[in-house]
Amino acid sequence: MRTIGPADGRTLRVAAQVALNAPSIFNTQPWRWVVQEHSMQLWADRARQLLVADPDGRLLTVSCGAALHHARVALAVAGHAADVRTLPDPAEPDLLAEVRLGDAADPATEDRAAYAAISQRRTDRRAFTGQPVPVEVIQRLIALAERQGAHLAVLRGGEIDDLAILTARAAELQFADPAYRHELAAWTADAPKAPANGSGVPSETAVSPSPRRVPVREFAPSGVGTLDPGDEGDAGTLYTVLFTDEDTPPAWLHAGQALSALLLGATAAGLAASPISDVTEHTLTRERLRHVLAGIGAPQLALRVGYAPDGTPPASPRRRLGEVVNLSS
Ligand SMILES: Cc1cc2nc3c(=O)[nH]c(=O)nc-3n(C[C@H](O)[C@H](O)[C@H](O)COP(=O)(O)O)c2cc1C
Repeated sequence: MRTIGPADGRTLRVAAQVALNAPSIFNTQPWRWVVQEHSMQLWADRARQLLVADPDGRLLTVSCGAALHHARVALAVAGHAADVRTLPDPAEPDLLAEVRLGDAADPATEDRAAYAAISQRRTDRRAFTGQPVPVEVIQRLIALAERQGAHLAVLRGGEIDDLAILTARAAELQFADPAYRHELAAWTADAPKAPANGSGVPSETAVSPSPRRVPVREFAPSGVGTLDPGDEGDAGTLYTVLFTDEDTPPAWLHAGQALSALLLGATAAGLAASPISDVTEHTLTRERLRHVLAGIGAPQLALRVGYAPDGTPPASPRRRLGEVVNLSS
């Protein structure tokens, strides 16, 4: 039996700090941690939900899953096995998971690599080069998703064209909705409040609009102050869809952990990536995407992975630890 000491609370707070680096929809960081002496609870922060783009809180839950995976990696590297109970409990739907410190354990090589990738990872929306993603890396990414209870479908030929058409259609439908435009503005550089408050998508991380093999979301439609998408044509880019068997909150949490594992795995392999979730935010395009997958599961989001041109996009802001952690005895 390991002895549990006051250091545990500190270890858990460090894990919550590391988890702030996790990707999240619109960089909303829609979670809270309640840190106890030997465990911590992950809660959804509904005040940060995108009520227009994500009315069911599906992508909020996926984002919380990504934070949970980041925290698990941090605990593993700190030498702790973590016993994770994923919820939600129907009586307490916003309590998503409980992480309890287990016995001391040496970190796996994979956890060390994922941990090293956390501070390097950025959502990179630029066009990727023609260099294809090696087959063994694709196989590793598929295995990483499976290990987290989700699946990764690799799109080929005409399926990529389908994704391009559906993503463009989703963007058209969303931009035609004033409520969506208002929500986007509230979380992007157009709203001085969002990035200055440690959340939201700064224009320097968005790319200016340009023809793309599969469109990426326009976070700064005016194009002002944005990143140059570059001259590459995305010819070697791998297009994938992360999907789950069920379409329930626990499945969304698994998808988020898989997304984190995939993004960190891709970063560790020298690859860049960016999620494409708008195609799953409109019921119509999500349903069509399900057909592209031949109905084998519920698409949670698409993910593009590839070799980026030189340079790295700037880091997006994050909230302070005190804003996401509550201590409880
Ligand atoms: C569930 C989810 C959905 C996302 N959807 C998109 C998207 O549609 N387009 C995009 O460019 N980035 C998307 N992102 C990436 C976020 O915008 C990004 O993680 C956030 O702005 C923080 O930036 P960072 O990943 O560089 O730290 C998504 C991330 C998550 C977790």
